[in-house]
Amino acid sequence: MLSAGGMNDLAGRVAVVTGGCGGIGFTTVKRFLGAGAKVLLVDRLQSEVDEALTRLDSKDALGFAGDVSSGEANAQFFRAAAERFGGIDVVVLNAGVEGVVRPLIEYPEAEFDRVVAVNLRGTFLGLKEAAPHLQRRGGGSIVVTASVTGLVGSRHLGAYVASEHAVLGLVKVAALEFAPMKVRVNAIAPGPIENRMMRSIEEQSGTGHADQVKAAYNAQLAMGRYGTNEEIAELALFLASTRASYSTGGVFLADGGFLAQ
Ligand SMILES: NC(=O)c1ccc[n+]([C@@H]2O[C@H](COP(=O)([O-])OP(=O)(O)OC[C@H]3O[C@@H](n4cnc5c(N)ncnc54)[C@H](O)[C@@H]3O)[C@@H](O)[C@H]2O)c1
Repeated sequence: MLSAGGMNDLAGRVAVVTGGCGGIGFTTVKRFLGAGAKVLLVDRLQSEVDEALTRLDSKDALGFAGDVSSGEANAQFFRAAAERFGGIDVVVLNAGVEGVVRPLIEYPEAEFDRVVAVNLRGTFLGLKEAAPHLQRRGGGSIVVTASVTGLVGSRHLGAYVASEHAVLGLVKVAALEFAPMKVRVNAIAPGPIENRMMRSIEEQSGTGHADQVKAAYNAQLAMGRYGTNEEIAELALFLASTRASYSTGGVFLADGGFLAQ
């Protein structure tokens, strides 16, 4: 039977959420704890991880400060979650950076490499290191926070758009390779979400005109508004849970109707 409002969807499950101090990540951690999971959150800075744990104030939450673009860090945080909680059932590969907003012909090479290292290499390493842990538990679910810009272009976000397109390719390969291990792999493709990342893109796009940039984005959305961190966390919970038992290799839009036109 389905549980009301996904209250116990992750009861007894262990989850790892990367980018767990950010807008979508932190809200996802809170939602997963509320659904009965134990959660290890990963983010770059120890100070931010400590602050997130203080705000969560939960005996079921642990933190790890590490860089998702490092293979060694990935091995360490998955091992830490498995050792502390006895195994891993759910992984949300959510850490990501938008990079600078700049036309292709001006886009700095080093910035391109940084964005690809976090978004693409980080997802590759996460998939690679997570799968054996989930297999040891007899299966599980991996949710990758990608973007609508994994499906369409967006001016001045070349590195971001390219990395998100590539991430969707990796999700499909992982879904094929991990299905025999009973590990499902799905991507979420959010449109613009009301949080730090969109504010950064707005401010970089129109110095002093962030409000106008936001209004222009809203005008492209059938629903006329940005999404919320909660609306993405809810979809992540669904895909993480056995309620999504027949879904793998999917790209799930949460974009306010952006791609409907
Ligand atoms: N905000 C949006 O409108 C939007 C839209 C589509 C997709 N997304 C995707 O959602 C995901 C979450 O982003 P968000 O919107 O919560 O933004 P955010 O900036 O609030 O969160 C991203 C988090 O990832 C962490 N992070 C960055 N680099 C890292 C690294 N190398 N190692 C570990 N952690 C790292 C950051 O410190 C931050 O806490 C990202 O993958 C982003 O691309 C966001």
